[in-house]
Amino acid sequence: YRNLRVALLGGGSVGAQVARLLLEQGPELANRVGATLELVGIAVRDVNAERTVDLPRELFTTNAEELILGADIVIELMGGIEPARSYILLAVSSGADVVTANKALLALHGPELFAAANQVGAQINYEAAVAGAIPIVRPLRESLAGDQVKRILGIVNGTTNFILDRMDTEGSSLKDALAEATALGYAEADPTADIGGFDAAQKAAILASLAFHTTVPLASVYREGITQVTPAQIESARKAGYVVKLLAICERVTDENGVDGVSARVYPAMVPRSHPLASVHGANNAVFVEAESAGSLMFYGAGAGGVETASAVLGDVVSIARRHVAGGPGVAASSYAELPVFDIGRVTTRY
Ligand code: NAP
Ligand code: HSE
Repeated sequence: YRNLRVALLGGGSVGAQVARLLLEQGPELANRVGATLELVGIAVRDVNAERTVDLPRELFTTNAEELILGADIVIELMGGIEPARSYILLAVSSGADVVTANKALLALHGPELFAAANQVGAQINYEAAVAGAIPIVRPLRESLAGDQVKRILGIVNGTTNFILDRMDTEGSSLKDALAEATALGYAEADPTADIGGFDAAQKAAILASLAFHTTVPLASVYREGITQVTPAQIESARKAGYVVKLLAICERVTDENGVDGVSARVYPAMVPRSHPLASVHGANNAVFVEAESAGSLMFYGAGAGGVETASAVLGDVVSIARRHVAGGPGVAASSYAELPVFDIGRVTTRY
């Protein structure tokens, strides 16, 4: 097998799980990709900090630049704008492809980063930047690229859904539920990003840009968070048959002069209890996509969490690694392990 050198920037909630999976599933991933994925190091701020996962100490470094310069694939899971932006620019300019989950960075500097990557033929994959483990970026960018998306409606922030759900079902306070979401690794390093609706607005900007094949600036996304939502409001919503959910809505719209455009907005909304979005509990997310030909599609699953998000990150890594091996757009070189097929007859499955 050819060897691909993978540099990881960040060893927190998501990064530590990505490192664990790369180390534990190395041989299986190599078989799927047709190349070994060698984790060459993990850049962090403090090499001695306690980690959520037991990982080899020698992998940790504070020298991110050195890691990047020796890598074929750079995974950015530090979060924030700087130095993440400079590190991604350094990675693409030095010939590496990039995987990132950093919606804050992409919503602000996506066009700059994609242009830099395009210039040198590098790839930036970001499935994990929107809705955690749910595949939504690739379906919009690829599967639905021949259709006309008319509307996206969804719950795209796990932390706020977790909080609103706890307030609704257990009568928790926003503060207590946020502390729980933070302990579970769902919240951003600064959770104001979650409860203020900034994270959902960043995701809405990314989704709208992908869906409508345009650039939707973050500043154009209308945003309200959940900080003003009170237990009394949740209670009266319940009595009226509604549940409060933080929604992101991206639409094709026509203004009063007949000019076609798009709209993206994030705000807490009263959702009827009979609506499928009302049944999205905990840190799960759900995204409805309405397209001209495909009709209505629904994507549902874990919207936050270290290991769940690591799944999306590794999918992006495998896709890039296959491209390295095949020299094409990510087709598997050697794809299937030889697994036995069992004849188990007619077995009743529980659903
Ligand atoms: P996190 O737990 O706060 O981890 C951040 C990691 O980056 C830490 O290991 C930290 O080092 C390192 N780091 C931060 N600044 C650095 C710097 N200047 N130089 C070197 N290392 C630095 O964050 P996370 O929850 O894993 O999230 C990472 C990214 O994934 C963010 O962009 C986030 O928005 C995105 N994301 C997160 C989730 C989720 O559920 N958590 C889901 C989807 C997307 P130390 O450990 O030494 O402090
Ligand atoms: N803090 C984010 C959330 C992580 O709660 O949805 C996933 O993007």
